[in-house]
Amino acid sequence: MAIRFGSLPISLDIKYLAPDVTEEMLKSRFGQLERVDEMLRSRKCAGGEMTGWIEPDSILTADEMSRLKSTARRLAEETDVLLVIGVGGSYLGARAVIEALGDNPDRVVYAGQNISAHYTARLRRTLKGKRVAINVVSKSGTTTEPAIAFRVLRDLAGSDAAKKIVATTDANKGALLKLARKEGYETFVVPDDIGGRYSVLSAVGLLPIAYAGVDVDKLVAGAVECAQHCVKQKPDDNPAYYYAAARNVLYHQGFNVEILATFEPRLHYLAEWWKQLYGESEGKEHCALWPDSVDYTTDLHSLGQYVQQGRRILAETFLTIETGEPVVRVPSDQDDVDGMNYLGNKLLSFVNSKAYLATARAHRDGGVPNLSILVKKLDARGLGCLIYFFELACALSGLALGVNPFDQPGVEAYKKIMFKLLGKPT
Ligand code: PA5
Repeated sequence: MAIRFGSLPISLDIKYLAPDVTEEMLKSRFGQLERVDEMLRSRKCAGGEMTGWIEPDSILTADEMSRLKSTARRLAEETDVLLVIGVGGSYLGARAVIEALGDNPDRVVYAGQNISAHYTARLRRTLKGKRVAINVVSKSGTTTEPAIAFRVLRDLAGSDAAKKIVATTDANKGALLKLARKEGYETFVVPDDIGGRYSVLSAVGLLPIAYAGVDVDKLVAGAVECAQHCVKQKPDDNPAYYYAAARNVLYHQGFNVEILATFEPRLHYLAEWWKQLYGESEGKEHCALWPDSVDYTTDLHSLGQYVQQGRRILAETFLTIETGEPVVRVPSDQDDVDGMNYLGNKLLSFVNSKAYLATARAHRDGGVPNLSILVKKLDARGLGCLIYFFELACALSGLALGVNPFDQPGVEAYKKIMFKLLGKPT
């Protein structure tokens, strides 16, 4: 039986966490979670100055939201493709939502998330002859990958570039802001109190998401619904508490890896966003679960073997969709040469749901405790709610672990060496 949380469009099924983790064990962590939750909300926790995402309806003013939507609409009318240039938190949230909900996700393409010459050259070839808008996103304005990509690709915007390039960056400082002012690009703000991986519901994510035709008001409303529920309800009715507690108990029992498993290819980038959120927030001071992801049923024919029978260090979180999938049926066939008539006239979504149930049970039997996050319907409301749920649970989980979930000191180490190797002036 799934645990439901009022009218929220997400619920949790925890039965296959047992016997490693029981509901009582989860509830025994709620006291600690209440304490860190209070510190989070009063901004007294580690990294408390980076908690601007907690109230998703106050991230953008009504005026900024309306300017954002009108810029996105204009660009969508005047161009064929939006090139989003950014890395990490400056692109993953947008991509996660666009791939999950966009009617035509291929209208948005990405650069600045790698330094591959091949990728860049192929992207340039693909965009030849197209009317290209560019949204360059960088809070610092100096991140190497997007800075290179913007230099290499910004000519794609063509002659009236100032009308087709939009920069999303710091409100007051940084190289990108300077460049935007010099070239006359429209700008949107990355709020000071929101780090990249928590920024999807700011202009960072919402501008490209709106360009892709997703209803940003409904997305934010879904997040607000979850935020208001979590702030008002008791721990027993807070989904973020259950999830943070489960991660915490599993980690302390010696599980090393949490795999986010989806049965829906359009959730692939949501899992990428989730990996950054949890990996960058918690992976410090030599602790935390390693966040990994798989795309089922595809990966049941590859990594599934390891999950079932490899080292018993894995816990799994299934992310599944309950309703609203398109009607596609397996046809019946008179000859039934392939023996598939037992599925004749069955919905693909029905078959997929049984594949999920079978996998959850088999992996539990194989020694992989798992919980399921069930999204009632994967629409803007449901995804907004899910995003907020993951963000809040991540902050609580990190704080319960004893780390600052809002910094990322470890990402500097490779940069120092790389800059030396590249001869960057100091
Ligand atoms: O979550 C984060 O803070 C990081 O992933 C950043 O978003 C990423 O490094 C890009 O930084 P910036 O926006 O400054 O270019």
